[in-house]
Amino acid sequence: MKIGDVQLESPFVLAPLAGVSDSPFRQLAREQGAAAVYTEMVSSDGLIRGNKMTMDYIAFEPHERPIGVQLFGSDPAVMADATRVLSELPPEQRPDLIDINMGCPVRKVVTRNAGAALLQDVPLIERIVSAMAAASDLPVTAKIRLGWDGQSRNVVDVARALEGAGAKAVAIHARTRAEKFEGHAHWDMIAAAKQAVGIPVIGNGDVRTPADAVRMLEQTGCDGVMLGRAAFGDPWVFKRILALAERGEELAPPTAEERLQAGVRHLGMLVKTAGESVAAKEMRKHVAWYIKGLPHSHKVREQVNRTRSAAEMVELLNLYLSELAAHGLDRFAPEPSPPTGGGGASG
Ligand SMILES: Cc1cc2nc3c(=O)[nH]c(=O)nc-3n(C[C@H](O)[C@H](O)[C@H](O)COP(=O)(O)O)c2cc1C
Repeated sequence: MKIGDVQLESPFVLAPLAGVSDSPFRQLAREQGAAAVYTEMVSSDGLIRGNKMTMDYIAFEPHERPIGVQLFGSDPAVMADATRVLSELPPEQRPDLIDINMGCPVRKVVTRNAGAALLQDVPLIERIVSAMAAASDLPVTAKIRLGWDGQSRNVVDVARALEGAGAKAVAIHARTRAEKFEGHAHWDMIAAAKQAVGIPVIGNGDVRTPADAVRMLEQTGCDGVMLGRAAFGDPWVFKRILALAERGEELAPPTAEERLQAGVRHLGMLVKTAGESVAAKEMRKHVAWYIKGLPHSHKVREQVNRTRSAAEMVELLNLYLSELAAHGLDRFAPEPSPPTGGGGASG
């Protein structure tokens, strides 16, 4: 798949995930074969004001490339200015893609006319995309939903409008805003949008296993597949997908040892980028996902939630690993079961 001039090694990419797709997690996903990654969504207002937290969110390591920064906002002039800010960053900080969030269902965002609210105003979408495309030579893309609700599933119109206004790809979470994360994603609508446009279409929603990823490509004809929840605590999912898609091979899931070591590495990287106390807090959810399905993980999760420093967390994880090894369980590799539901999700 090629997005503008950006060539992706495979069709399988990591979704933008607020509170989850931090730089260490993106690095782990790229190492395991994700063809592209995205930052968490960041505010276009925050970006043009140079807000410190926003600037931290858009920082990345060179080996994360290709990387997209995802912006949310609704004012074409502000979105264009934010695009300019990103384009004018020094080359090593400049992202490869600029994505627009048109899927976030949360009230705080839609009441500001951003996220999924944009789907109700196709002319505004066109103004935003053309202003952004004119402001930069970086490819502008969008991540959308099927529409606002069951009565207004305008995904095909939106995809055409995006293409007409200069977007270089569209990712589709195959649910409406009203559906949030409930029920099943409607992959048939991804197929309908793919028929309607020439730009790459990236399908998204309910890809839980490598077989699902291959099936989405086959059933919808889409160019790319975006994974969110299936990658939580399981960046190896990309390696398993590639093995299945390219060689028809079913790889074993990661062992307890691999999962715990990744947790420790993730934490170490997060300490470097976010500092000790933020890292210890942010890692709680990641650790819960890394250990999910392992023996006594509930007890360990409670202990992890009580830790106050990264060092204490590392100690706990190493102790857990040695206990598992003592019982010959460090090679244990349960089939990962991705979290369901969106939690506080933003797309
Ligand atoms: C915790 C969480 C955070 C999310 N944050 C974002 C976000 O910042 N931007 C976005 O476009 N979508 C966001 N999403 C939506 C996902 O990118 C994706 O569209 C959705 O989870 C469906 O894909 P999946 O079934 O593979 O998880 C988020 C979802 C979750 C669960």
